[in-house]
Amino acid sequence: MKAIIAPRPIAWVSTVSNAGIGNLAPYSFFNMVNDRPPMLMFSSIGRKDTVNNIAETGEFSISTASRSQVDVLNCTSQNFEPTVDEFDLAGLARKAASLIRPAGVAGSPAILECRSVEVRQLTTLAGQLIDTWMVIGEVLAVHLSQDCIVDGVYRTELANPVLRAGYAGDYWEIADPGKFVLDR
Ligand SMILES: Cc1cc2nc3c(=O)[nH]c(=O)nc-3n(C[C@H](O)[C@H](O)[C@H](O)COP(=O)(O)O)c2cc1C
Repeated sequence: MKAIIAPRPIAWVSTVSNAGIGNLAPYSFFNMVNDRPPMLMFSSIGRKDTVNNIAETGEFSISTASRSQVDVLNCTSQNFEPTVDEFDLAGLARKAASLIRPAGVAGSPAILECRSVEVRQLTTLAGQLIDTWMVIGEVLAVHLSQDCIVDGVYRTELANPVLRAGYAGDYWEIADPGKFVLDR
């Protein structure tokens, strides 16, 4: 399934616990689920620190990652104790948020400040609760890197997003020229 539903965008999710400890981790079970207001979701296989922090505070920030950030992104996916702040561990600089506490990753193409609408534990078809948690959030503020804007338009190709694919270490990048436009 992970090879079929691929390549997937990656949310680099930043949160802060009630105790004030920062956390950062990548999630590729991630997508946009509404446009107005902008809403998105990601899901955590197992109740991870990210979900616990969002359940406590209702706040999270999503930074997108470009190809050049993939090594440090991978570094932040290690399974650390909740007391470890992956920003410090990976030597990442923070970009302060305007409306919420969790900072974004400085240098990311886009940072989305979100508040959670729902933290839902999934059930199977048979009605059995599983240890998977889907977070739906509404985007309150957006910060874009000036490097990705030309004539006032955000250009995805300049963000050079890194995408997750199917098997263990598989990632995707957008080949040049990969973009085309189709009339609808
Ligand atoms: C590119 C990438 C994508 C990932 N996507 C997910 C995901 O969608 N859901 C998930 O539960 N874990 C995912 N992981 C694993 C988490 O990042 C990892 O378990 C991390 O330690 C969770 O951190 P936390 O406990 O601080 O939330 C992914 C890892 C990588 C490298």
